[in-house]
Amino acid sequence: MNERIEKIKKELENIKIESLQQLEEFRVRITGKKGELTQLFENFKTVIPEKKKELGKELNLLKNAVINTINELREKFENQETDRNTIDLSLPSKQDDIGSRHPISIAKNEILDIFKRLGFTVANGPEIENDWHVFSALNFPPEHPARDMQDTFFIAKNANNEHNNILLRTHTSSVQVRVMENQKPPIRVVCPGRVFRNEAISARAHCIFHQVEGLYIDENVSFADMKQTLLYFSHEMFGKNTKIRLRPSFFPFTEPSAEMDVSCTICGGKGCNICKHTGWLEIMGCGMVDPNVLESCGINNKKYTGYAFGMGIERMAMLKWQVKDLRLYFENDIRFLKQFESVT
Ligand code: PHE
Repeated sequence: MNERIEKIKKELENIKIESLQQLEEFRVRITGKKGELTQLFENFKTVIPEKKKELGKELNLLKNAVINTINELREKFENQETDRNTIDLSLPSKQDDIGSRHPISIAKNEILDIFKRLGFTVANGPEIENDWHVFSALNFPPEHPARDMQDTFFIAKNANNEHNNILLRTHTSSVQVRVMENQKPPIRVVCPGRVFRNEAISARAHCIFHQVEGLYIDENVSFADMKQTLLYFSHEMFGKNTKIRLRPSFFPFTEPSAEMDVSCTICGGKGCNICKHTGWLEIMGCGMVDPNVLESCGINNKKYTGYAFGMGIERMAMLKWQVKDLRLYFENDIRFLKQFESVT
């Protein structure tokens, strides 16, 4: 054993290490799992008791010397490395990339601006919601299949493995409920925001997307008012020659309900791949607010009527800029985003 200790001591005295890599090799060879010093400590267990004290002291001193040498050398090499990398004034300066607005934000701002010009104000609300604001107040009866129209992410389950009533909002109609609960008519709001639905991700669907929903409540608000507002919106958003059509539909919170199409933004209605040769593109749901909804939110449904509408921002951006794959909006690939620099 003594011989082996001497050998390591000698090596320490005449150490010739010139790089971090060599140092690492040395470290492993001496103090690694099967290193020379580690072995000595292993062998130490079998030393006779009389010799233990002296030999133990010697081994510990050696160990400290090895560790100190390794640390000193490491510090030296690391400092050398940073010295070499410190400022080179002859280098050209680094050009910082300037970001651009995301297409979803551009489309959202454009939609909101159009409605602001009509006197709508913007309202925001929480993304984590309760059942009342997303479903119950909006005339979705409990256990009603209409709730399945929007596959919901629930936040947690109770001890009986039933989900509690806290969920990620599936639409921003929840914000409209909050506005109705807190304001008196006349109400004119648009509610932008992120919404969540438990759907498989593909080019045409995503579990996260964005909506702008609108609500108008006053005395004598009619379906014709809604139609005129949405026609104005379509002209501003897609151009003066855009036509709209309303098809009967169903939503629990509106009666009557409709889906609105605009004439195809690509072919102008003649028929192309984008509109699947129909000449029309569906862009939003809308309808007259169901009197039950007004009542749930504490608004006198004998005195007031209103209309509501809701659209997906990804879809609007898709139609405006012909983005064919929804996933592009979420990947944030610089090459995709840079194409929108000039649009803002
Ligand atoms: N909230 C509906 C949805 O997310 C859209 C909508 C809003 C329909 C308002 C009618 C009226 O699909």
